Amino acid sequence: MRHLLSISDLTKLEAISILDTATELSRISDGAVKKLPTLRGRTIVNLFAEDSTRTRISFEAAAKRLSADVINFSAKGSSVSKGESLKDTALTLQAMGADAVIIRHGASGAPQRLADSEWMHGSVINAGDGTHEHPSQALLDAFTMRKHLGKGSSDLAGIRVAIVGDVLHSRVARSNVLLLTLLGASVTLVAPPTLLPVGVTSWPVTISYDLDSVIANVDVVMMLRVQQERMTDLFFPNAREYSRYFGLNTERLKLMAPNAIVMHPGPMNRGLEIAAEVADSARSVIVEQVANGVSVRMAILYVLLAGHPLEAGAN
Ligand code: NCD
Repeated sequence: MRHLLSISDLTKLEAISILDTATELSRISDGAVKKLPTLRGRTIVNLFAEDSTRTRISFEAAAKRLSADVINFSAKGSSVSKGESLKDTALTLQAMGADAVIIRHGASGAPQRLADSEWMHGSVINAGDGTHEHPSQALLDAFTMRKHLGKGSSDLAGIRVAIVGDVLHSRVARSNVLLLTLLGASVTLVAPPTLLPVGVTSWPVTISYDLDSVIANVDVVMMLRVQQERMTDLFFPNAREYSRYFGLNTERLKLMAPNAIVMHPGPMNRGLEIAAEVADSARSVIVEQVANGVSVRMAILYVLLAGHPLEAGAN
């Protein structure tokens, strides 16, 4: 495996070996010495042409814990905002000897374009492209589910997940549908019809427009951010209506199964898709998703750049 562009690049075994590697690496992160020498002397570039907090710093922390040199490159304040093309940016990164580029871009397919080109020779990792995919987020979500739902080091067979909200604009939803179904979970998408993509009926999911009828029967409720910045149309009447039908509030939280968990990739619109009390409740694993993100991204870098998974007990 050279690149990570889409979850569809992964076999089930490869996905599980990334999760297992992350489990091993998280043990190291919990210890006194957090750093491994694995990627000493390698250069990793964080190329972010769209805003990000969690994903960017998470990849940076992951690369540093593996002793790589990290160059942070954000579009704002760089020549990208002067209109420099992806090609010229890539040629610059190649000239600097980048072994891997972690790219977030507003255009769906930009990471693929970079990987297919002759412009640079390193690994390309998709950190979110347009409304297309966000594979590292799906892997950290699966890792978090595995940890919480007592699935140890196996797949997610039998786990029921509801993904709720703005599926239309969500690369997190697309990558999660692919990964969760690959790992044997069953997925229900819950959204107003206006926020479901064309062609969703061919996805391997169940579709519902009624959160109350789904919420008691799932192990995971994954809320999605309403992505106002990508909305060019009116997709729902107003915020209050949206929250009433598709928001996770304290009344709905009470309907959830005893061990079910609440997830959200962040950033949250507190009060819109999720009530503040729910986000901060004992059911919520939202902060833990962020912490797990570092171990999972270490695992992705490890597998791509060291060229093999980390065996249990190897360190
Ligand atoms: C997501 C993204 O950027 O796609 N956030 C993230 O990476 N944690 C989801 C979002 O922006 O709503």
